[in-house]
Amino acid sequence: KIRRTTVPEIAARKGGEPIVSLTSYHAHTAAIVDKYADFILVGDSLGMVMHGMESTVGVPLDLMIMHGKAVVRGTEKALIVVDMPFGTYEESPAVAFRNAAKIMKETGCGAVKLEGGKRMAETIHFLVERGIPVMAHIGLTPQSSHVMGGFKTQGRDEAGWDALIEDAVAVAEAGAFSVVVEGVVEPLAVKITKACPIPTIGIGASAECDGQILVLEDMLGLNEWTPKFVKVYGDLGPAIERAVSEYADDVKTRAFPTEKEVYK
Ligand code: KIV
Ligand code: NA
Repeated sequence: KIRRTTVPEIAARKGGEPIVSLTSYHAHTAAIVDKYADFILVGDSLGMVMHGMESTVGVPLDLMIMHGKAVVRGTEKALIVVDMPFGTYEESPAVAFRNAAKIMKETGCGAVKLEGGKRMAETIHFLVERGIPVMAHIGLTPQSSHVMGGFKTQGRDEAGWDALIEDAVAVAEAGAFSVVVEGVVEPLAVKITKACPIPTIGIGASAECDGQILVLEDMLGLNEWTPKFVKVYGDLGPAIERAVSEYADDVKTRAFPTEKEVYK
């Protein structure tokens, strides 16, 4: 039986072979990603990517659990990490524990992720001490986009660098096994990676991070617009459009179904 990558195995990759990760929200894409990724994140980006929301703020816990279950079912090898959605962990460590435990029990995932640095350290410690592995997420934290005034690259002003480095160190000291560093200027991502004793997972960060993550649909070319930090490896949007338009033509001209596709 194939064994899943464990949390300590990810933590041990600090400074080692780069950690490969992607998001996935469904059993079928997760099964493909599972062949290559060390961990798969069921990101709350699914609210925007899959459900057309304008931000991740409106993502409900039940939706994360539903997609988390699908990804766990579709995979056998990667560690599955599920995002805690906005409003399910910020209030107190006890609330965070209750919701993180619900996610873990109902999905079978191996860890949760939550946004915030120093301010979430106490909560991270509380969860880890009680058996819930936590991946932290600092820099551009989309759930705080209303406070930040949008999705803004962090660290453009060097005066803010120390606070972001302190965030990374604080989540590590609190017991997080890894930290996503999103949307920060490259030299700051390098400094964070050097200062932080746990693996940094970059997105819009630096190749010097201990690993990288991208939103699968972004790198597959499924969105009309992609941010600068995304490298588009696939061409699925145009491929899907070609297929759908051909099908539409075939239906209208009765070219589908043919002899091959009907029961005689
Ligand atoms: O929700 C998400 O997809 C994420 C990644 C971009 C890190 O948090
Ligand atoms: Na997220």
